[in-house]
Amino acid sequence: MILLDGKIASAAVRQQLTTEVAGLKAAGKRTPHLAAILVGNNGASETYVASKVKHCEEIGFASTLVRLPETTTEADLLAKISELNQAPEIDGILVQLPLPKHINEQLVIQAIDPSKDVDGFHPASAGKLVQGLPTFIPATPYGIMLMLEHFNITTKGKHAVVIGRSNIVGRPMSILLSSNSQYGNATVTVCHSHTPNLKEICLQGDILVAALGRPEFVKADMVKTGAIVIDVGITRVEDATAKKGFRIKGDVAFDEVAAVAGALTPVPGGVGLMTIAGLLKNTLQAYYQRNAG
Ligand code: GUN
Repeated sequence: MILLDGKIASAAVRQQLTTEVAGLKAAGKRTPHLAAILVGNNGASETYVASKVKHCEEIGFASTLVRLPETTTEADLLAKISELNQAPEIDGILVQLPLPKHINEQLVIQAIDPSKDVDGFHPASAGKLVQGLPTFIPATPYGIMLMLEHFNITTKGKHAVVIGRSNIVGRPMSILLSSNSQYGNATVTVCHSHTPNLKEICLQGDILVAALGRPEFVKADMVKTGAIVIDVGITRVEDATAKKGFRIKGDVAFDEVAAVAGALTPVPGGVGLMTIAGLLKNTLQAYYQRNAG
């Protein structure tokens, strides 16, 4: 079994970005700048946003973290986005999801200027992805494609099974894997909560992407021998013996699936790190596009 180590693959992407940003600075150019908005105090979101900001700084990007209280109104959040849309020094904007229940997530996503939509969640970005046009690819599916590229995994002609159809992961992942591109050209089946014979379908997957958010849902008896298994889950599961009081679990029962799979991503240390790599690449892309305009 090959361990698809996100630490190694993401470090390679970050190294390349670090060199590129150093080159821009040496040439006297402006520094790429990501703005992240975090509303409220969701523990997992705090960790993700802190990690995104930290990685920005490490590769030489500028970053701005906008922290807003849980009680922030939708209007206030939209006003903040408008301000960042208009700020010439800001290249990419991300609003960490989920948002508090009183805020309409779709409205917020649509308020981001598509030229700064480094999460790729705006309908304009999603529409371009569907039509195979250049756009911002949502960071997690983008990171998975970078992972496939790093480990040179052939997808052409394979049967890929994606569990999950979210706008953030499952849906764009299925589009990318079936796209006419080097790490696409797979035949893709999308499974979801209404798929009756899930186990039988998963067993047909040469590539299996688990993005449903249910800890250790994918067991060894659902995985074809030698399959490439990509675990997108990151759920906090209470554990009194752990220092923080919880452990991070993926959607795949790692130990038993490792005995069957041909390649497998660990959690943590797999797709999560690649997501950040995808976000950083999108931010640099936004920077170049805005500077060219
Ligand atoms: N919440 C879960 N995943 C993501 C992501 O990739 N971006 C943002 N903004 N929020 C998320």
